[in-house]
Amino acid sequence: MESKLINLPRYLDKRGNLSFIEECNHVPFAIKRAYWIYDVPGGEARGGHAYRLNEEFIVALSGCFDVILDDGKKKKTYTLNRSYYGLYVPKGIWREMNNFSTNSVALILGSEPYDEHDYIRNYDEFINL
Ligand code: TYD
Repeated sequence: MESKLINLPRYLDKRGNLSFIEECNHVPFAIKRAYWIYDVPGGEARGGHAYRLNEEFIVALSGCFDVILDDGKKKKTYTLNRSYYGLYVPKGIWREMNNFSTNSVALILGSEPYDEHDYIRNYDEFINL
């Protein structure tokens, strides 16, 4: 499956809006992990790696940021700035995140538990694979 933006359910309400995610439904994998990135100082970038197995779904819960995906041949930049959609990132894709706005929060759901051995942190190694 290719990387793609996935719209999430939205319950618009005068009291405040609500969205949700169910595994194997709105995201195409079983969710084994959730982590979030926050308090990112201006100008900083996160990511800069690929995963051998882990698939991800990234949501801008607050604020906005860019996700740059690179399949080894071409790069694509997605700007995430709403909490009612997210970006599906398959395994084996180099990804970086940058341009974080003040107070932005990135929620990342993963298909695998954290495992440092699943990371490819060297770009040349990624290209060779
Ligand atoms: P890393 O994935 O390298 O951050 P990013 O891709 O956003 O730049 O994670 C930074 C450190 O946090 C990593 O060395 C170990 C720790 N970590 C965990 O322990 N569990 C996790 O689920 C994640 C994502 C990171």
